[in-house]
Amino acid sequence: MKEAMQRLREASIQAILASESPDALENLRVKFLGKKGELTAILRQMGKLSAEERPIMGQLANQLRSDIEAAIDKRRGELSEALLERKLEQEALDVTLPGEKPHLGHKHPMYNVLDQIKEIFIGMGFEIVDGPEVELADYNFTKLNIEEGHPSREWTDTFYFTEDSRVLLRTQTSPMQIHAMEAKELPIRMIAPGRVYRKDEVDATHSPMFHQIEGMVIDKGVTMADLKATLNLVVEKIYGEGTVTRFRPHHFPFTEPSCEMDIQCHKCGGKGCPTCKGEGWIEVLGAGMVHPKVLAGCGIDPDVYSGWAFGMGLERLAMGEYKITDLRLIFENDVRFLEQF
Ligand code: DAH
Repeated sequence: MKEAMQRLREASIQAILASESPDALENLRVKFLGKKGELTAILRQMGKLSAEERPIMGQLANQLRSDIEAAIDKRRGELSEALLERKLEQEALDVTLPGEKPHLGHKHPMYNVLDQIKEIFIGMGFEIVDGPEVELADYNFTKLNIEEGHPSREWTDTFYFTEDSRVLLRTQTSPMQIHAMEAKELPIRMIAPGRVYRKDEVDATHSPMFHQIEGMVIDKGVTMADLKATLNLVVEKIYGEGTVTRFRPHHFPFTEPSCEMDIQCHKCGGKGCPTCKGEGWIEVLGAGMVHPKVLAGCGIDPDVYSGWAFGMGLERLAMGEYKITDLRLIFENDVRFLEQF
């Protein structure tokens, strides 16, 4: 029996030292010390021993059990230490290395110009409104006094969704005038910036998608003088105090009278230069007094209320402000270009 225990001692210690995982160790513990294990099997022989031998063998067996347990604990400690060591090695991090700078973008230059314009109008008590880019021909044309058959309704100029020419991509932000008049309490002071779409070939000054800013005021006793004063103020805020403007008569179906506003070239002071293409003046927007037919169509009594409206191109404004000579640069989103602003 003594020899059996000695064999078990050698075999178990060897197996424990060779084991490579906590699971394997647990299996060995069961194998050697478990209820059906090898030590138990040896102890079953106790009955055959004499009364003197029994306590001696019992003591030896206890010693063996605690030695095997100690060996298992020691090996378990070694294994977990080695595991930690390996983990630390794999996850090693050199905190002295310089960090990687995240590449942050910034607002598109054209939207900086838009923000500036929004600020100016908010300061004057205007509301910023947003509306659909997929629009009904009714709102894009008819309610704006642009009758059936008008050249701007042609399929060659407008992106239509339906054969019956009822649904389209808005060609201007002016339908926002109608939406505002139909939905809002009077008086109204609003601007509506957004995308518009026309069937134009792409070149240095054209794009099938571009941005406009619509503006409108409806109240009692509003006159052309209010329109001029307001727009002059806006222009001075954008281009600096004393910027000279001129208003030329023009025609738009939804305003009467209508005009276009030019600013005197801020580069050459009106003498003519490349910025103003030698004209001395730069056209910035179309405007006018909201047509009585348009007011009445939206349920507003033109004998009581009047209003003015304007529409301007945002790209053109941004190009002027940042001296960008090709419209395509605004949309191509080449970071080498955008990073300059
Ligand atoms: N919607 C016009 C265009 O796209 C611009 C315009 C002219 C807007 C006169 C207006 C306006 O509100 O009163 O050419």
